[in-house]
Amino acid sequence: MSTSGEVLLSQYMAQIRHDVDLALAEVATYSEGCPQVLGDAIRHILLAPGKRLRPMLVLMASDACGERSNVTMASACAVEMIHTYSLIHDDLPAMDDDELRRGRPAVHVAYGEANAILAGDALLAQAFEVITRCEAAAELIVRCLQELTAAAGPCQLVGGQVDDLQAENRVGTAEQLQKIHERKTGAMFRVSLRLGAIAANATNEQIARLDTYGKHLGLAFQIVDDLLDEQGDMQQLGKQTGKDTAQGKLTYPALLGIQESQQLAADLIRQACEQLEPFSETAEPLRQLAYFVLQRNN
Ligand code: IPE
Ligand code: IPE
Ligand code: MG
Ligand code: MG
Ligand code: MG
Repeated sequence: MSTSGEVLLSQYMAQIRHDVDLALAEVATYSEGCPQVLGDAIRHILLAPGKRLRPMLVLMASDACGERSNVTMASACAVEMIHTYSLIHDDLPAMDDDELRRGRPAVHVAYGEANAILAGDALLAQAFEVITRCEAAAELIVRCLQELTAAAGPCQLVGGQVDDLQAENRVGTAEQLQKIHERKTGAMFRVSLRLGAIAANATNEQIARLDTYGKHLGLAFQIVDDLLDEQGDMQQLGKQTGKDTAQGKLTYPALLGIQESQQLAADLIRQACEQLEPFSETAEPLRQLAYFVLQRNN
């Protein structure tokens, strides 16, 4: 990426982050009925400095296909809420047993395990509520809910997480690993792009291309996450490192080694970007974001 491209992307990303953060702060303001500890636990992690990649993908997909609609920002919030719930649960002692997330103590460390489970449950439910409250045609809302429930459900995100845990300390194949990463991580990338495109009334061809872009990007993203767990810096990442090896996780560096994993991630990013060709400059942020994912250190 050229230097001017990097500046443009960082400005565009900063603006999206600002807009999304404001919307999330509003979503995480609760009225009577929500216990103080639950609201605090949710805000502790939801409003912490995450990269906001998935909401960015929603907004960038809408931009690539035409224009943002009411459904765009609601979907951006919803995917970040589901992603955040998955992080809360992923860190629990019963899962990856991690104590640091987004530079803060994990929710179960700060608020206890029961509240962490319940904060995740609440975010998952509220993500769907956010979509239903948006002013848009009922068919559009139902379609978005179908997309999101499928991506977050047993055959995608949750299924991938189950297989990730079952693969610990076992010999696995590249095929199995790809299936794990495509579901535990790739599904939320794909649905973010699909929702952004659907919100912009995209054609089936545009949705299919962005879906494939998301599939490659999501897999590359998780390969880089595996590499950063081995080689990254805990301060920069805001989460613990070296845990995958310690827990016997099936990861790309464990299976293929560092160099081959880096090469695979780079190949996937190239394949992702090929899908953007018909979009011309409207997809430039998506193109640049793909290279950001490859080069990121947090
Ligand atoms: C972490 O995702 C979980 C994975 C799928 C690897 P991110 O690296 O996007 O986490 P945040 O949202 O920036 O904290
Ligand atoms: C987590 O993958 C994927 C989801 C949260 C669904 P990891 O377990 O590798 O994510 P980190 O490294 O804890 O962020
Ligand atoms: Mg995990
Ligand atoms: Mg983890
Ligand atoms: Mg990881």
